[in-house]
Amino acid sequence: MSSPDAPDVRSEIRSPDLTTVPDGAAGDMVESLFTPARNNDIFDPSDEDAGRTERVVFKIRRQDDPFSAPYWQHFELSCSERDNVVAALRRLRTNPVTCEGERVDPVVFDHNCMEEVCGACAMMINGQPRPACSALIENLKQPIVLEPLPKFPLIRDLLVDRNRMFEHLKHVQAWVRIDGPWALTGALGGAGGTQKETCLRVSQQQWAEDYLYSRCMSCGCCLAACPQYDEGQDFVGPAALAQVRLMNAQPTGKFDRGERLHRIMGQGGLSDCGNAQNCVRVCPKAIPLTTAIGELGRATTVQALKDLFGG
Ligand code: SF4
Ligand code: SF4
Ligand code: FES
Repeated sequence: MSSPDAPDVRSEIRSPDLTTVPDGAAGDMVESLFTPARNNDIFDPSDEDAGRTERVVFKIRRQDDPFSAPYWQHFELSCSERDNVVAALRRLRTNPVTCEGERVDPVVFDHNCMEEVCGACAMMINGQPRPACSALIENLKQPIVLEPLPKFPLIRDLLVDRNRMFEHLKHVQAWVRIDGPWALTGALGGAGGTQKETCLRVSQQQWAEDYLYSRCMSCGCCLAACPQYDEGQDFVGPAALAQVRLMNAQPTGKFDRGERLHRIMGQGGLSDCGNAQNCVRVCPKAIPLTTAIGELGRATTVQALKDLFGG
């Protein structure tokens, strides 16, 4: 998936290597998870004109609608070292003139939070799927090549329809029901579970592990990188699988554990994963996707035995 010139996305990401939780280190991990984000990654509109020092060339793949042919356009912009790709695209929108001097339609793209939380700005940047709001101009090789995220239907230019990903999250029931008649005290509290709180409590270790998965922002980068995920295929993809792992570990989510596992035991589920591990390499939130897939493999095996023998 990656171009030879592209930087390793995760080398620019603040998160530590969280693919495993070392025994006894949950406290340190919890602390590290809450270290502040790099403020210089966040676009501040009030600074839009500050410190502009460098001329930067962008090569952008344009497409006027889902049915027309794509084409490339080059733009040159003044950027500061504090700019990220979304900030540059916003500036380009105010004066969309190509390197050849032609005034063209503004480039269409999506963004929202500007702090790597909403996932809306994900696109291909120098051959890597990643959020544009955390891609600093100063760290990118020029010309900066921008393309829409593959694997999703294109709407226009850099804007794609990520609805398919949300349909897959619905398919695996990536939520926790809160309106059921749950036997909260007995079912999870064990022999000593005489109070409601007992079964809702999780260990700090489990909390730290679950938190890793809760950071998914549905950006679709892992799906863009996954060779098994495509428009013509049923595979729900690594993001939905990781959410099954998360929801099945929740104290109340456990009540629907069997249903979620059954949803990924058939066609388009876990067995469609080819274990290429591209997903975990590109996830901007460093979510241990392949760890989740491994855990789900064991859980579905146990579920299949239960289905066979009862229990
Ligand atoms: S490990 Fe599975 S989900 Fe991840 S990229 Fe490979 S095939 Fe896709
Ligand atoms: S798992 Fe990572 S790459 Fe995939 S949608 Fe979630 S945040 Fe994005
Ligand atoms: S704008 Fe929300 S993740 Fe980039």
